[in-house]
Amino acid sequence: MFWLHAALIYVYFFSGCRAGENVTQPTEDVMVVEGQPTTLSCQFDTTSQSPNLFWYKEQPNVNPMLMLRRDTFSPGETNTEFKERFDARLNFTAKSVPLTIQRV
Ligand SMILES: *[C@@H]1O[C@H](CO)[C@@H](O)[C@H](O)[C@H]1NC(C)=O
Ligand SMILES: *[C@@H]1O[C@H](CO)[C@@H](O)[C@H](O)[C@H]1NC(C)=O
Repeated sequence: MFWLHAALIYVYFFSGCRAGENVTQPTEDVMVVEGQPTTLSCQFDTTSQSPNLFWYKEQPNVNPMLMLRRDTFSPGETNTEFKERFDARLNFTAKSVPLTIQRV
């Protein structure tokens, strides 16, 4: 068992050229059980009818790495090196795009 600091992975919201949208993510540490799937939550608040959401992996002294993109009307894309273990489903009704990590 180990602790994954939620700040290591954060979500960046992008919606065309709109600015000032809100994304909230719990900032507490997320307890992760090794070998078990885990989910990091993310809520968004937008006036856009077709938001695109991006999950980035952030590490100290390394540029944020794009893991995946989820769009309202298409499946989006997942970076090859994250395909096996990372997935996210955008729920427009719930305004959430939780990130699921397999086999931490
Ligand atoms: C962002 O959240 C703040 C605080 O809840 C709110 O006052 C503001 O209107 C929100 N902005 C947008 C664009 O939703
Ligand atoms: C999206 O969220 C709504 C409201 O929480 C829920 O009723 C619905 O089942 C969710 N849809 C999917 C595909 O998970």
